[in-house]
Amino acid sequence: MSASFVAVANLKGGVGKSTTTLMLADGLAYYFGANVLVVDFDPQANSSQMMLTERGLQMAYEQGKGVHKLLQQFSAGLPPNLADLILPNAVTLEELRKDERNDRRSGWISILPSHPSLRFTEMDVEERVYAGGMRPSELSNRLRQHFADALAPVASLYDVVLIDTPPYLSPLARAGLMLAETYVTPTLADPVSIWGTKQFSDWMAENIAADIAVRNFIVVTRFKNTRYARDAEHELRTIYLKNRTFGPTIPESVQALQAMDRADLDSYNTMRGKYGNLRGDVRRLSERFAGFLADRMGSDVPQLVRS
Ligand SMILES: Nc1ncnc2c1ncn2[C@@H]1O[C@H](COP(=O)(O)OP(=O)(O)O)[C@@H](O)[C@H]1O
Ligand SMILES: [Mg+2]
Repeated sequence: MSASFVAVANLKGGVGKSTTTLMLADGLAYYFGANVLVVDFDPQANSSQMMLTERGLQMAYEQGKGVHKLLQQFSAGLPPNLADLILPNAVTLEELRKDERNDRRSGWISILPSHPSLRFTEMDVEERVYAGGMRPSELSNRLRQHFADALAPVASLYDVVLIDTPPYLSPLARAGLMLAETYVTPTLADPVSIWGTKQFSDWMAENIAADIAVRNFIVVTRFKNTRYARDAEHELRTIYLKNRTFGPTIPESVQALQAMDRADLDSYNTMRGKYGNLRGDVRRLSERFAGFLADRMGSDVPQLVRS
């Protein structure tokens, strides 16, 4: 058994990529007992910060853990060595922690974190290899290979690897997209966002995954139930991205903001405490996505362990 590799991606920023990454991680771990690895490819490090807190993010960096280390190994021509760079159980919901104590743990979440320095490391690599005559597309391919080699030995430990991606297409970002078999695309329901989502999808079809339509899972998020938003969502479903799988629409909610604001690295929360009324949405999101993986990708997804 090997993990399903999933990129959460949209070229537009602020559309809920990092939030959706975490909701999927929590939902799949909690409701499906899945073992989830979050890989943060975005130097903005939002999903890392949400999972680890700022203090934890800094600690991870000081301990030499994270994607930037893999990039340094690449830069130094060293074979990838991932084992020491992942933080196990980076965030564990209280119920999962109790399971662990009772030795019946049914899911966990680990993270390969990012750090703002990642972009600088990448720029150093770019400058050096381009001076040597390498083309950006070749660099992307080599990075993809390096990361694939790094992840291969640990892939069997996880059911799902969720790759959070930045809102641009640098070689590292493209490598992250190329690692994935399926793509979760969060979008807002407004004309600018849905058009951007369509552009991104076309670019993906041309450059990364010709069969994106069958591998794409769309999540309309931060939804305000207005006529305007309903019209945009309708247009997205019926014109721009018909034939795609749509997840549940996630409402705009302060609970989503609060859920991502972890008090402290040593503080744990229950699913109810973390998501409040939004946990039904988190459950539907993970349920629909687990179904998508099973139907479309033939993945052997874990069964529902809680309701
Ligand atoms: N369902 C939601 N309700 C309210 N705010 C949300 C929701 N989802 C995301 N947000 C907020 O919107 C902003 C952008 O979300 P984020 O996940 O960081 O997007 P991205 O990763 O695409 O840049 C963040 O401030 C986040 O907390
Ligand atoms: Mg983000």
